[in-house]
Amino acid sequence: DNMCGIVGYLGNRNTIDIVIKGLKRLEYRGYDSAGISFFKDGKIELIKKKGKVDGLENEINRKNKYSPQKIAIGHTRWATHGEPNDINAHPHKSNDGSLIIAHNGIIENYGVLKKELLKEGFVFKSETDTEILVNFIQLIKNKEDLSTQHAICSALERVEGAYALVIMDSDNPNKLFCARKGSPMVIGLGDKEYIIASDPSPIIEYTNNVVYLRDEEMAIVSVEDSLQIRKLNLKTTTPKIEQLDLSLESIEKGGYDYFMEKEIFHQPESIRDSMRGRINTMSGEINLGGISRYAQKLIDAKKITMLGCGTSWHAGLVSEYLFEDICRIPVEVEYASEFRYRNPVIEEGDLFICISQSGETADTLAAIQLAKSKGAVVFGVVNTVGSSIARETHEGAYLHAGPEIGVASTKAFTSQVTLLSMMAIKLGYLRGNLERNKYVQLINDLYNIPSKVEKVLESNELIKEIGYHFSGASNFLYLGRGNNFPVALEGALKLKEISYIHAEGYPAAEMKHGPIALIDENMPVVIIATYDEHYEKVISNIREIKSRKGKVIAIVTENDQTVSKYADYIIEIPTTHSAMTPILSVVPLQLLSYHIANFRGCDIDRPRNLAKSVTVE
Ligand code: M6R
Repeated sequence: DNMCGIVGYLGNRNTIDIVIKGLKRLEYRGYDSAGISFFKDGKIELIKKKGKVDGLENEINRKNKYSPQKIAIGHTRWATHGEPNDINAHPHKSNDGSLIIAHNGIIENYGVLKKELLKEGFVFKSETDTEILVNFIQLIKNKEDLSTQHAICSALERVEGAYALVIMDSDNPNKLFCARKGSPMVIGLGDKEYIIASDPSPIIEYTNNVVYLRDEEMAIVSVEDSLQIRKLNLKTTTPKIEQLDLSLESIEKGGYDYFMEKEIFHQPESIRDSMRGRINTMSGEINLGGISRYAQKLIDAKKITMLGCGTSWHAGLVSEYLFEDICRIPVEVEYASEFRYRNPVIEEGDLFICISQSGETADTLAAIQLAKSKGAVVFGVVNTVGSSIARETHEGAYLHAGPEIGVASTKAFTSQVTLLSMMAIKLGYLRGNLERNKYVQLINDLYNIPSKVEKVLESNELIKEIGYHFSGASNFLYLGRGNNFPVALEGALKLKEISYIHAEGYPAAEMKHGPIALIDENMPVVIIATYDEHYEKVISNIREIKSRKGKVIAIVTENDQTVSKYADYIIEIPTTHSAMTPILSVVPLQLLSYHIANFRGCDIDRPRNLAKSVTVE
């Protein structure tokens, strides 16, 4: 199954506690079922439970299977093959009960492998591709009389698809076997202990030393020996130990009820972090160190294509306005998932900017590979350091927004827009489209954004009240013009994702071409009516809504005197350059959806059917 979280532990601490805690940290990757496996009295125990990791933890306590032995592996799932239930939950056992596997990824040729296994008399309890994989390893092991390690390599050579796996073996109760291709896996090296996980968050509490497993590598961790890493063709490689640059604090809720809430309130700092060391207001400079070798290509660009999904796509749409306005380069912003499947025209040397928080989104990654295969130059705007997209792009700039854990993306969006704005401003200047004083002015405007976000956050209580008032609504419309149109899309996405209220984002002027038919006294309309070149027109749109009895929540520039005459509620944001308004106007929309979801009793960090990194097509 894909988009899941894996944790493995080998060492002298309480194995079960460490695995459960780690799974909780990885729940953003999937949370429809969870399971754990460990040795008890020399035998492999397996406990699996539909639902969140809390449910699994209760089950362990209920069964009193607590057993602090050396090894345990755990899994939290987002189902792709087979519905979320106890049986399909991982880990999965081989028919002879000797091998146990936790898997993240998709085995594409599972059908062929299953046929082969059925011929050999294997039986299957679950509907997962993972159970096929573990049995296939067992088959190879027995048939070819191989050691577990060799059997894993030999089996994986015949597997098509993506995987990160941790395997326990009853013949080797002091070892854990891991392998990866396409799905992430990190190994933490502690003092006589190892923590294996899908990302560093379960590891950081115990050690800073990690090895990122590379594609088609396997690792054997054991109590007796040092870490062994080999290619699947069995050639040994030397592990490259890296230091994690991550604090425990950054992955904990720190007094907030939800990660989403923490991340919304963290935006003044995360935006500052995105600019740190890159903007110098004294000398009037922007410096993006990650973009150097191909910088001239950007300066000479005839067009730019931006790729992303969901919120990252919205960030691209916002930036398109600034790139076109001040760089005078035509920009197309494409859904990565659509782009890759429509035989796009890509020419040698074409320029792409690919946007992704996680750096693991399968559609974006595949679109990048397609563009590269045609000779395009690809820049990445990615948050997760060392992620697949970060590695696949030619050059790029990290967001440095810190880990984003809430499934609904918030601080990544504001950092993406900030970073893309830095790129556009610098490029506009280098291309000679921006005079020095305008360039310096824009740099200053951007630099001042974090303190303005702080100001917006002061409206939290007001937004909470508005949220309470509308928490029973079944539909919402979000409207904006210019670069605030994508903000309307983003506001609607936030509401849909975490409160399950149907919401649509529209360009305000398009309303009269159809959606206005939806408006009646039950329709709340969130409209961005800040003071810019569209202001008068947006006021007309508000009046159109009011005359049809819609309820208007308007985001306005501070001290606005006009909109309040028509709107039911107004939320003020500070004055800024119109290019930067989206970084401010999106914040009340994030808060509004947060509060509405909270009043509706929704599980904000783990909205139904979603996962944080969508590594499935
Ligand atoms: O990690 P990415 O930025 O590549 O993810 C793209 C989308 O899956 C993501 O933005 C998604 O739409 C979020 N849940 C939005 O809140």
